[in-house]
Amino acid sequence: MNKRYFHRVKKGSYSLHPVFFGSTTLQELIEEISFDNQGYSSIFALIDSGVPAEKVTAFLGNEFPASNRYVVEGGESVKSLASIAEIWDFLMVVGADRHSLLVNIGGGAVCDAGGFAASVFKRGIHFMHVPTTLLSMADASVGGKTAINWSSTKNMIGTFALPAVVSIQSHFLESLDRRQLLSGYAEMIKHGLIADDSHYEEVLKSYVNGEIPSECLLENTVNIKAKITERDPKENGERKLLNFGHTLGHGLESLLGAKEDKGVLHGEAIAAGMIGEAYLSMEYGFSQEELEKLITTLKPLVSHAYFSEDQIPSILESIKQDKKNEGNRIGMTLLKGVGEGLWTEKLSIQKVEEGLRFIVKVLSNQTK
Ligand code: GLY
Repeated sequence: MNKRYFHRVKKGSYSLHPVFFGSTTLQELIEEISFDNQGYSSIFALIDSGVPAEKVTAFLGNEFPASNRYVVEGGESVKSLASIAEIWDFLMVVGADRHSLLVNIGGGAVCDAGGFAASVFKRGIHFMHVPTTLLSMADASVGGKTAINWSSTKNMIGTFALPAVVSIQSHFLESLDRRQLLSGYAEMIKHGLIADDSHYEEVLKSYVNGEIPSECLLENTVNIKAKITERDPKENGERKLLNFGHTLGHGLESLLGAKEDKGVLHGEAIAAGMIGEAYLSMEYGFSQEELEKLITTLKPLVSHAYFSEDQIPSILESIKQDKKNEGNRIGMTLLKGVGEGLWTEKLSIQKVEEGLRFIVKVLSNQTK
């Protein structure tokens, strides 16, 4: 990497996988991660159609062959076996081998799907994530989880597979619409709630102003996730903290669908899930005052996650399939307070239902 860039591109010091912060190019990153010190035999790019073409070209370089690019629609539709099969077909046709690299450029769904496709193609090839949405920068691209959905349940099939490198470049956020940007804040707010009260306050300030988060804030949020993940990469314990808001949130997503322009976005469903799970956390020490603050803060996000009481049974059916469950107990991460998560809780289905009913109550108060 050109020395000049060391001032702009900062490498996070994580043992799991490198994360580079700042504007950079594919060429510069490749120099950092050459395969077996010999370089890659070929490089292919999986590109989210929502990312402006000029930004993709500026990153890949003018010389990057059009035939090595595969463009997919972002959003949950790419997280299906049919889409993965198309990606595998593409890799077969272009002659990818075990020394090839797949570069995933896009939102969380493209990172999840591209990571999954690469992690099992020819028993696993290297992949790089270049997240372009706030959600994928703050969460999906970091930590080595890959997944597709199955039978309308989120992230049912997947692997733990580490990217060769993650490149976080906040200029991609300039082209994000406001709803997408705000939705991405949900995962940053989550990081504050489970692990760091001062990060929570900093994130809220930036979110309330509707700003693109500063590089420093992004770095702090990735830091929280990366540190938890490197201590527990396979989610045997502490990593479960990162699921706060996701038990109820994934249930909602399964019902409402997570599409780019309609339905509910991932961060919006997670915001609603965080309200329900924070409510259930009151038995463990989370205060009424903090719950009210969270509800007020997340109001613009949860209004997109509307559902009614009579939809609760089908949400519960989906939640019963959650990977974190044991028998008929539902695994859920709760909070003792702001900055202090609890990852071991196993709740009855009645308790989970209470959490969903609370979200309905919050949503109906908002629409009055
Ligand atoms: N998104 C939660 C995790 O990566 O563990």
